[in-house]
Amino acid sequence: MREKIQSVDLAKCYLLLNHGPVTLVTTAFRGRRNVMAASWVMPLDFDPPKVAAVISGDSYTRELIEASGEFALNVPFRRIADKVFAAGNASGRDGDKFVPAGLTTFPAERIGAPLVYDCAAWLECKVIPEAHNQQRYDLFIAEVAAAWADPAVFSQGRWHFPDGARRTFHYQAGGVFFQTGRMLEPFHRAHMNPPEKD
Ligand SMILES: Cc1cc2nc3c(=O)[nH]c(=O)nc-3n(C[C@H](O)[C@H](O)[C@H](O)COP(=O)(O)O)c2cc1C
Repeated sequence: MREKIQSVDLAKCYLLLNHGPVTLVTTAFRGRRNVMAASWVMPLDFDPPKVAAVISGDSYTRELIEASGEFALNVPFRRIADKVFAAGNASGRDGDKFVPAGLTTFPAERIGAPLVYDCAAWLECKVIPEAHNQQRYDLFIAEVAAAWADPAVFSQGRWHFPDGARRTFHYQAGGVFFQTGRMLEPFHRAHMNPPEKD
């Protein structure tokens, strides 16, 4: 898999999250691994690149992040929305979620947590411990140690979704998702894009 994906400059890795997609948070610690859906995730800083994620105190993900100090943010394609929803509605404490959900993985480079196939982008994150934020707000701040993207959808610092299945998507609530829409021309240009095919 690694040969098919493209390294993203850490100075630009915030762009992988800038459009606010739902993510899969993957974790691992001493032979245990887990995956959960998370939409409360955002870029926080450019250099060194940082992200913020809200990770609920009762989740198994939280337990593994606190134990390992690491997690990966996987930015899934719309075509696995059902799997993402499943990963957000069961706990890894009750059994492995990867296999029943049909989520397959490949190794990360800088952290122990696995990366999930069928995603547009991946950020490998190392927690910057902030006990007060974590305990009071479930808020984790982490430095991005490596970032990757599928060049079919993200290259030269820009998203360019080729088709409907390979779009990222956003969570509202109650099982409602939106797929990322069509790109508008930069506003300094006079005209708008012609409609894209879905
Ligand atoms: C689309 C979606 C987005 C979610 N976003 C978050 C989030 O940002 N933070 C969070 O703590 N839980 C979020 N959840 C809930 C967790 O995914 C859910 O509690 C999960 O079962 C926890 O799994 P775990 O115990 O295996 O870690 C979300 C769920 C869904 C379906």
